[in-house]
This record gives sequence, C-alpha cells and structure tokens, in this order.
Amino acid sequence: MAATMVDIVRTFPDTTWADDGPTRGVEAVVESGHVLSFPHLPFVLGDAERRFLDPRWADPAAKNISVRWPSGELRGAVAHGTDLSDLRAMVVRYAEQSEAFALRLFPHYRGHLVRGNTSFRPLDVAGRETSWRKDDTRLHVDAFPSNPMQGTRLLRVFCNVHPGDEPRRWRVGEPFDAHARRYLASIARPWPGSAWLLEKTGITKRHRTEYDHLMLQLHDRAKADAAFQRDSPQTRVDFAPGTTWVVYSDQVLHGALGGQHMLEQTYYLDVEHLQQPETSPLRTLERLLQRPLR
Ligand code: SIN
Ligand code: FE
Repeated sequence: MAATMVDIVRTFPDTTWADDGPTRGVEAVVESGHVLSFPHLPFVLGDAERRFLDPRWADPAAKNISVRWPSGELRGAVAHGTDLSDLRAMVVRYAEQSEAFALRLFPHYRGHLVRGNTSFRPLDVAGRETSWRKDDTRLHVDAFPSNPMQGTRLLRVFCNVHPGDEPRRWRVGEPFDAHARRYLASIARPWPGSAWLLEKTGITKRHRTEYDHLMLQLHDRAKADAAFQRDSPQTRVDFAPGTTWVVYSDQVLHGALGGQHMLEQTYYLDVEHLQQPETSPLRTLERLLQRPLR
C-alpha cells in the first residue's frame, strides 16, 4: 500500500446551507487542492422523496440522472407523470441549495460561477462500468474527451444521501503539480490538425486545446498505470451519509471505491476568476512547460 499519506481533507462544522452558516471566504483552501468536508450538512429528503433512493429510476443507458442547465431539463431517468416532476424537483432543490452554499463559501466567485449539470446517482459504485478508462475507482483528475474545458475549472459539490449508514468511499492522491511532473515529459504534443478534425466531426463540443490534450493524457496515463494506482501517495476518505464535500475535481486526484445514492453539482469557473489563478491546472502546466496552452 501507499508509502506516503495525503492530508488534504479539511473539515468544517456547518449545519446549514443558507447564508447564516459559519464558513465563508475559503477560496484559498479549495484552490490549493483541499477537499472541504462538511460532515453535518445533509441534504434532507422529504418522506415521499425517499422513494427515489432506488436504482430503478436510472435509465440503464445513461450514466446518471441529471438536470441540464440553463434548460432545467431532466435526463437519464425512467419516470413519468408526478414521479418525473417530483424527481426533477428534488434535483433542482439540490442545485439551488448547493449554489447558495457555494456562493457563501466563495464570495469571490459571485457573478462568475457557471452552473453545470446537477446529477443524482442512485447506482451502487460497485456495479459500475469498468473499461479502464471509465473506471472511476482508479485515481484520476477529471477530464472529458467530448467536453474540452480549455482551462476552465471544474468545481463540484457532492452530498451522500444514502438512507442507511453506507459511506461514499473515496481515495485521494498527490498534489496536482507532482502529478503533472510524473507524466508530462512523456506526453507527446497532439497531431497537427487533430483538434480541428475532432471538432469538425463532432467528437468534441468545441476546440480541444493543448491544455485539454494534456489533461486527458494525465487522466488516461494515471488510470492505465497500475504501479501508480498501487504505490503513489494516497489516502482513503469515507464520506458518511449526511456529509457534503466540495472539491476542484480537475485538480485533486480522486477515485470512488464504493457507496450509493449521491447528489452532485458541477460548476464552471474561468481561471481568471479564481482568487489565486496560479494554483490552477492550466497555470501549473504552463509553468512546467514554460509556454501558453490556451
Ligand atoms: C468521480 O468523479 O470520479 C466519481 C465520484 C463519485 O462517484 O463519488
Ligand atoms: Fe472523477
């Protein structure tokens, strides 16, 4: 097992999502690669909403149940009538509560935080898809083949809503700059014209920049590297039901080992709107390579 421990979880006492909670102004903590954990901050389901804690609502063909923004459309669910509208209402409430919370934690991001998908994941992590590239039990930073971020940050607010006592079991790994140094020298530049072709054929939603190329390579190299998965610095973290946690998932090495029933809100934030842009994966990679990547 890992020789070195990783100590990146910071715990806070908040018991409310609303504006009167104690924690605010913690941009520097999350931007420096910590996981902010709130073990006393449950997302409370109504009695009738508890019926949704069941994998049968998830379309087997989709990865998650999610609400897309700005349309507010629910995707990935097998539900009709009031089931559909009640399920959507629950996920939308999570979007709203977690956004109020994020803006309290990070007042510097006000007016710049862009709401991405809100997802509900009633499936057990254990039964999930396992091609190595999609295997999220392996340590990785988030990067998506079809959705180039072009340097934009991925901030996520998770909440374990398991009705019993099953934790979301994660492991977290080494700091981003150490991780980048581990693989950077062995990553070739993209083929000339490849980004154009990927965009033209609709494989990517927008231009895959060299930043995106590097982030995807880091994602894939890490997941394919059995020695890295086994021997690199890492620590297990259990998030008990009723725990909310906040993390830059494009920066913090993470893997989900187990658990069921979770809500997750994604936000996008431009690098310029970070309190400390130099901590971002984009600026870190540019510093290491000594050239602009956007
Ligand atoms: C991931 O983002 O890699 C998975 C998170 C989770 O399912 O807990
Ligand atoms: Fe991930």
